[in-house]
Amino acid sequence: MIGSIGAQSTRIPGREASVLRVIIDRVNPASEQLYRSHLDALAPRWAAALEAENLDAVLVSAGAPRNYLFDDHAPFFRPNPHFALWFPQERCEHAILLIAPAKRPRLFYLQPDDYWHLPQQAPEWAGGCFELSVYSDPDDLRDAARAAAAELGSSACIGDDPAFDNCPANPPKLIDRLHYQRACKTEFEIDCIRRATEAGVSGHLAARDAFFSGASELEILRAFLAASGQTEGDLPYPCIIAQNEHAATLHYQYYDRTAPVSRHSFLIDAGARWRGYASDITRTYTATPGDVFSDLIDALDAAQRQLIDTIRPDIGYLDLHVDMHRRLCSLLAEFGLVRCTAEAAFELGISKTFLPHGLGHLLGLQVHDVGGHQAGPGGELSPPPSDYPTLRLTRITAPGMVFTIEPGLYLIPMLLDELRAGDAASEVDWPAVEALAPCGGIRIEDNVLVTGTGSRNFTREAFAAAGVS
Ligand code: GLY
Ligand code: MN
Ligand code: MN
Repeated sequence: MIGSIGAQSTRIPGREASVLRVIIDRVNPASEQLYRSHLDALAPRWAAALEAENLDAVLVSAGAPRNYLFDDHAPFFRPNPHFALWFPQERCEHAILLIAPAKRPRLFYLQPDDYWHLPQQAPEWAGGCFELSVYSDPDDLRDAARAAAAELGSSACIGDDPAFDNCPANPPKLIDRLHYQRACKTEFEIDCIRRATEAGVSGHLAARDAFFSGASELEILRAFLAASGQTEGDLPYPCIIAQNEHAATLHYQYYDRTAPVSRHSFLIDAGARWRGYASDITRTYTATPGDVFSDLIDALDAAQRQLIDTIRPDIGYLDLHVDMHRRLCSLLAEFGLVRCTAEAAFELGISKTFLPHGLGHLLGLQVHDVGGHQAGPGGELSPPPSDYPTLRLTRITAPGMVFTIEPGLYLIPMLLDELRAGDAASEVDWPAVEALAPCGGIRIEDNVLVTGTGSRNFTREAFAAAGVS
């Protein structure tokens, strides 16, 4: 062990708090208090989960980078989200937390001797929040963490390290409880997601400008990264930068080096991270304002806003999803893409061809955050119905939940072929549909917080602050 920077050694009046403020948040001093309150909120939640599973303690390992096969370097490191929940900084390779009810959390932190890489340093604020011990050797660190857990009684570990002796790894019931809790965010987490959304919107504005100046997908990606202040390793998920028919691939993953000769449309699904928390934002643009595709974007945008206006606590997310399909069927009828009524299109399931993914998902430390199909803390499940198997979120809304609302309308050749071969084919106006195919599709995706009485839309707020309605 290099040193112990626990409660005893860090109580330097005035210094501890100011260091925490600088490291945790360079922008808003109020965040320091939010973070302390976040830790205070986690402690009883985790204590209840441990007690329900008859555990006295849990070891939570941050994890470590894993090299590519037969190589000597690794993909970008991403810590175990259960660790990140407590420790909002990514320089935590090999670190382990020991959490026990009614005890100050202990942090075992690795500060290696290394001249190939800049060694991670134990952040000074950590001593103010955890009982901190610093090690230079990962094996020593693990031995010390294991010994400390053994002193407390029955323990489990959470992470992808090999299981410690007598310490079950990732007990499913404990994980269920912890995942269920994570749906409702603390004020600190909400603040992080709001800031991640602001950073993402900055990137979106630059990407939009790059598109209208004729940029390629790769050039748009660079514009997004620069304006959102991110490297590719910072991103919460790979940016989807799709021009023309590429927008029909839901998670299109390439970046053309040259701009298309004919430009019809641009879909960008890209977010940012703030202290580990993700934003997830999509906008779609037409290259030719005033065309039908442009009107369709505006109509879907309006339908999405109207749907968000209905959000409040205690409603089923599945009901929102079904409501969106009804609204989409109205658009299909209004734009002449189907020949039947909106109601008939809904009954025939035609909208599922145009919107094959779910309305959205929980958002947090993971972009598709955990717990979306849980119905209670004890492992009760609420799976998506067979009509909508791709829906990632089936929970009842509650204050503090943050999720996406991301309807789409896509021209996906494979799904259109299936529709054309089925019983509902004659209800579709195929020439009208095919005329839109070069545009690929539309997605509008916002990040929404459920409040005590309604909702807040962080994405619209950030665009509005930049003067974009
Ligand atoms: N960016 C992936 C999604 O929207 O869920
Ligand atoms: Mn999403
Ligand atoms: Mn997205």
